[in-house]
Parts: sequence; structure tokens; C-alpha cells
Amino acid sequence: MKIRITVLPGDGIGPEVTSQAVNVLKSVADVCGYNFEFVTRPIGGTAYTETGHPFPKSTMEACLDCNAVLLGAVGGPHFDTAPTHLRPEAGLLQLRQALGGFANLRPAIAFDATEACSPLRPEIRRGADILIIRELLGGLYFGEPRAHDRDNKGAYNTMRYSEHEVERIARIAFEQARNRRKKLMSVDKANVLETSRMWREVVTRVGKDYPDVTLEHQYVDSFAMQMILTPSRFDVVVTENLFGDILSDEAAVISGSLGMLSSATIGGSVDLFEPVHGSAPDIAGKNMANPLGAIASAAMLLRYSAKLTSEADSIDAAIRATLDAGYRTPDILAKNSDRKPNTTAQVGVRVTEALSDLLNRRIAYHAV
Ligand code: IPM
Ligand code: MN
Repeated sequence: MKIRITVLPGDGIGPEVTSQAVNVLKSVADVCGYNFEFVTRPIGGTAYTETGHPFPKSTMEACLDCNAVLLGAVGGPHFDTAPTHLRPEAGLLQLRQALGGFANLRPAIAFDATEACSPLRPEIRRGADILIIRELLGGLYFGEPRAHDRDNKGAYNTMRYSEHEVERIARIAFEQARNRRKKLMSVDKANVLETSRMWREVVTRVGKDYPDVTLEHQYVDSFAMQMILTPSRFDVVVTENLFGDILSDEAAVISGSLGMLSSATIGGSVDLFEPVHGSAPDIAGKNMANPLGAIASAAMLLRYSAKLTSEADSIDAAIRATLDAGYRTPDILAKNSDRKPNTTAQVGVRVTEALSDLLNRRIAYHAV
């Protein structure tokens, strides 16, 4: 097994959390005897400072010439005044477009161990395990025309979808639901938007090919409330780009912290893995960011881009073991806890140790 991974640490806490995720992958490679090659390139504000562009050509080339891309985070207050096309976020959008992945899978899981740091009552969040599938290459993020028309003192963006774009994301969502609890919720705003009415029609039509999956539709405003009122009722959720951006941050309340959430973007020429959280400039460089979202993204990388299902499961199990052993960065430390918070590196090292144990035990088991 040989794979090449392009690593884009990016800005803020990106480098700290990504290096923990890379350590975890290296430990899989060591223990299992795989060859994982890592190529690191700049993106976002860091790339803009070094090269004048947030998504330089050499970064794009490395991303197109590998098996998977692992990204940290982009953005920061000193880049807020850069022209729109040179902002760190523009670099990320160019990366997503270059790779072509249109389906962004964002799981939100209510770990028992983080019960005390979620504002939701335990009986409400218990057992919740939602997979939000966000369309990533369409809608307001990319629709043309778009402009800040200063002469006319106005600005506009365009929400635009083709039937083809809706159909392909719907298929991914039904496939995912089929392998889980066979429930799919499609979220739209069909009482107001034409794009949403078409979305609903297309998803319903695609659903005819998946009679084993129960499909429901809900308006985004109502769903935003339902997801928090009764999170354990939902399985897979599919929605357009901006709705998915908003709902996935909201889903962090179920997990307990945005720092726990991972994502995989699939369907393009090279898949992209990134935690859902941003660059958190206020805590950057302080060794206190939660690396679990980045590490869980590395698990998704093995699952989707290397088909190493059992190794991916082992990383997820090592994350749970680390939480069960009481390891906590400040974002997931209960308010009334008398524990001292752990550092980013301590949590990362603990995951790596738990993982090596799990993998070694598996190897020993197979040897008998
Ligand atoms: C995310 C982020 C990005 C997005 C930003 C940084 C452009 O919020 O991945 O959710 O809006 O897609
Ligand atoms: Mn977001």
C-alpha cells in the first residue's frame, strides 16, 4: 500500500492540528508497513504572504498529483482587507474547485464522553449520529453573476443549480443512507426559492432508485430547530452549499465543540479532507486547539481515498479511547471540571498511542 498525501497546514491553528493528524497517519504506516508519502505546501494567508497568492500554482500541482489532500484551516484577521480574490478563503474555494469534489460529508456524533460540554440535555443528545452532506461546488458560493456594484450602491450573488448538480449529490446521499440507518432528510427552502423547488423535485426523482431509503423533505429554518430539539431522529441530511455551511456549524453543538468535527469532500479527481473548524487565530500557536477534528479527517482520508476501512475504524476507536481516558483540550473541558486541560500535542500523542495498541493487537490476532 503506497499513497501520496498533499498536506496543506494553512493558517492559525491549521499547522498545529494538522501535524497531529499527520503523526497519526505516520503511525498507521509504521505499524502496518504501508508507504505514506507526505508533500507539504502553503495555502491561504500563509501562501499569500509567501507568494502573493492564496492558492499558488505549485500548491495546485501538488494537489492534483496525489491520492488525497489533507488541509488544516485558512483565514485570519490580517487578511480581511485583502482584495476578495486574494483572501485566504478564495484560495480554499479555488482548491475545492480545482479538485472537483462536490460532496462534502460532515459527520456530527454525540460522544458519551463529551456529554458534559454540550449545552443539550443528555437525554436529548444521547445516541445522535448525523451525517450532513453539503453540496460544495454550487449555489451562492460560485454562482455568477456576482458583484459589489459600488457605482450603484448595491451588491448581489446568484443562487444557481443545474439538475445534474442536484442529481449527483442526491445519489451520494442515498448511497450513504443505504449504508447507515436508511433515512435521508433533504433540506431546502422550497416555499420561497426556485432552486429549492427544483432540488426537491430532483431528489424525489432520484429517490425512486432507492426504495429502501426513507426520504423526507424539510425547510431549512424548521430543520435548523428540529436538529437541535431532537438530534437523534436524524440520519443523513443532504442540502445545498450555504445551508450546509450553516447547519454543520450548528451540528457542533451536538458533538460538544467545533474542534471535534471532520469532513471529507468526495466525487472529484482528488478527495479533500479538512476539519470543519476555522483557523481560530485567537488560540493559534498556543498548543491548546483541539486536534480531534483534524485526526478524524485523517481517518476519513484512509476510509475514502485508501479504502483502509479497518485502519480508519481503529483511528475512530483511538479517538473514543482518548476521550474515555479523560483527555480534554479546553474547548471540551466541562465548566465545573477540576481537571487541568490537555495540550494539542498531549491529545495527539495519546491518540497515536491508543492507535498503535489497537493496530498491534489486530496484527497479533491475525497472526494466530
Ligand atoms: C467551511 C468554512 C469555509 C466555507 C470558509 C472558510 C470559506 O466555513 O469549510 O465550512 O464557508 O465553506
Ligand atoms: Mn463553515
